[in-house]
Amino acid sequence: MIDGLVPALDILRWTTKNETAVCAFNFSNMEMLQVIIATAAEVKLPIILQVTESTINYIGLDYIIAMVSAAVKDIDIPIALHLDHGKDSHICKRCIDAGFSSVMIDKSSARFTENVTCTKEVVELAKKAGVSVEGELGTLTGREDDVSISGAAELFTDPDQAYRYIESTKVDSLAIAIGSSHGPFKGQNAPPKLDLNRLREIKCLVGPFYPLVLHGASAVYPDLLDICNRYGADIHGACGLKDEDVKASIKFGINKVNVDTDIRVAFMAGIRRSLNENPNSLDVRKHFGLAKEMMRDVVIKKIKLITNTANGGSLD
Ligand code: G3H
Ligand code: 13P
Ligand code: ZN
Repeated sequence: MIDGLVPALDILRWTTKNETAVCAFNFSNMEMLQVIIATAAEVKLPIILQVTESTINYIGLDYIIAMVSAAVKDIDIPIALHLDHGKDSHICKRCIDAGFSSVMIDKSSARFTENVTCTKEVVELAKKAGVSVEGELGTLTGREDDVSISGAAELFTDPDQAYRYIESTKVDSLAIAIGSSHGPFKGQNAPPKLDLNRLREIKCLVGPFYPLVLHGASAVYPDLLDICNRYGADIHGACGLKDEDVKASIKFGINKVNVDTDIRVAFMAGIRRSLNENPNSLDVRKHFGLAKEMMRDVVIKKIKLITNTANGGSLD
């Protein structure tokens, strides 16, 4: 594991103890990574950095390791580096060997027994390296999957299955499907309703100290999307989760909240605005500079929304 990282489970245990949650931000480039780390360090709260396999293919695993090593050096807050949506044990092993402190094995679209077998295999690999593992059960719905939210309840996580999955695999945390979805189109003209009763039932079965994960948690803030559209984007009918629903999900037992779309929208709004306001500038740093500033505001807002230290949640 890279020096300066902690296993995600350490952070998740802190969240369950303090009845709060941690933000897990996806990053796509060095600038986004810098903003996430600097902002978390500024507010002195733990953070999970995550990358998908497509980001690994884009940046390169060696570069990710080098950038994260530099980013976490001398930073005095708990930080984990997590593989998001690992599709098989091969990519999980690559990340564990490279120095990640957490991996997700996502076999949620496979049969239950295959999901269990594959998750067990990854847990075994990861445990030897002190690396945490997140699993997933259920299907995230939404326009991207061509599934209507209203007809999707049977795709949500089944509480009994969740209990059996955790018992059989000993996985450290579980991503559950309760009505959110990835990307900017989460509801049909209205924010999707989260099935909080199902969440409560799952938490009751798995216990208050078992960490649960909410994927697809972006709000898709209209003011930022408007900036993108004003400066040339063509993204209409987008809709995310309400901030208050994300807060409610944490109250009902979510401990890790995944955010990607919201920081992408902010970053792109900054780039588009800067290109428009500085049409004669070829200075990449100038355009990325505004993108970083706009992204920082969203990262701060998210951390304040998601990680609540009102329960006395000191980092010790
Ligand atoms: O959960 C997945 C991310 O939001 C998007 O994935 O990095 O493959 O585009 P990507
Ligand atoms: P959003 O698309 O809502 O940001 O979700 C990101 C996510 O779940 C990454 O795993
Ligand atoms: Zn996800």
